[in-house]
Amino acid sequence: MATNRTFTMIKPDATQENHIGGILSMIEEGGFRIVSLKKVLLTPERAGQFYEVHKERPFYQDLVKYMSSGPIVAAILEKDNAVADFRTLIGATNPAQAAEGTIRKKYAKSIEANAVHGSDSDENAQIEGNFFFTADEQF
Ligand code: CMP
Repeated sequence: MATNRTFTMIKPDATQENHIGGILSMIEEGGFRIVSLKKVLLTPERAGQFYEVHKERPFYQDLVKYMSSGPIVAAILEKDNAVADFRTLIGATNPAQAAEGTIRKKYAKSIEANAVHGSDSDENAQIEGNFFFTADEQF
């Protein structure tokens, strides 16, 4: 059953270029309520844990290095059909394929430095949200 929450991170390229406000505006204008929000500098160990599912992929080491290269903003978001609607709002992983009007079309620089992460399933949304926020921070 679909839940109404998803998880996002604003990635180091976007935080370093002062796009936190612009991206959060697009998220709120897209109809999402911000449930939880924090800015964090991930250690390589924490970034590696977060992306553990990609451990065997060729881009894993670079991804871990990149995701710990500067602060990220983690957030839990709420809306009907949150996971699918948020993936529509952010656009394709590769910004070269991202549709007009999407967050990645506007802010992403490359397939790695692609401005934002969005959960790919309800199950992962819950796991990823719990990775950053305790129960009393999710309201
Ligand atoms: P994200 O949606 O956070 O999930 C995995 C991340 O790996 C992805 O966004 C990109 O930042 C990064 N990545 C780097 N290279 C690739 C690739 N070739 N395919 C998919 N993801 C990649």
